[in-house]
Amino acid sequence: MRAFVCALVASALLLPGLAAAADPVKETDDGIDVWFRDSDLDAMAKQELAEYIATEAGESKLIDRSWSDAPPLIPHTLEDMLPITSDENECMNCHHPDNVTSKKDLPLPESHFDRPVIVEGKKNEAMRNRVDGYKKADDVVGSRYDCTMCHAPQAGNVKSLKSLFRGDEAKK
Ligand code: HEC
Ligand code: HEC
Repeated sequence: MRAFVCALVASALLLPGLAAAADPVKETDDGIDVWFRDSDLDAMAKQELAEYIATEAGESKLIDRSWSDAPPLIPHTLEDMLPITSDENECMNCHHPDNVTSKKDLPLPESHFDRPVIVEGKKNEAMRNRVDGYKKADDVVGSRYDCTMCHAPQAGNVKSLKSLFRGDEAKK
């Protein structure tokens, strides 16, 4: 019991301390006081219409990855390529390994052909089903078909919050 009370007192003393430590930058003045952000939300509310990169595929420059194994951002225009439908996927016309002419066209990586093997979770395991390794599929697996679910185009004119996120060593 004594240990429990001590822990309570310690956490009561610690919590405001943590909050203060996480807020080294100056306070916002929008009247909403939350310790985990230092930016004025109103400043982000008004945005110009996003202007996406207009550089043609084949002429764009790859964007550094945010962390290793992050889905790379799309560095070229997507004009006339969207929406991706079951009949038409322009992305495949260029990125499918059967269609690329050189490494510079960036063929889909091996991972996009890996079909997860789903098995039933063991008794008392948290998940009813779980992934137990991967099997090579003959073609791109369905979960990788809708490319823009993971790969995002970029716009240069959008205001965004400063991020303190640091990933691990990012690959190009
Ligand atoms: C006309 C061919 C073409 C089409 C269509 C195309 N791409 Fe690309 N893509 C390229 C080339 C070539 C590059 C390499 C950069 C360059 O040369 O512009 C590239 C680069 C990329 C990259 C960057 C990869 C990295 O490692 O940084 C991603 C992601 C990407 N494309 C996704 C897509 C998606 C998603 C679509 C469909 C919405 C698409 N591409 C359609 C040719 C194409
Ligand atoms: C479920 C998320 C997801 C989907 C959907 C997806 N990708 Fe990816 N993609 C990734 C991730 C994560 C990576 C980086 C890790 C890796 O290589 O597996 C990647 C890597 C890539 C690369 C980089 C290859 C290289 O050599 O640098 C290209 C190009 C690419 N994807 C194109 C596509 C295209 C085109 C589609 C649609 C047919 C697509 N991806 C669908 C997550 C996804």
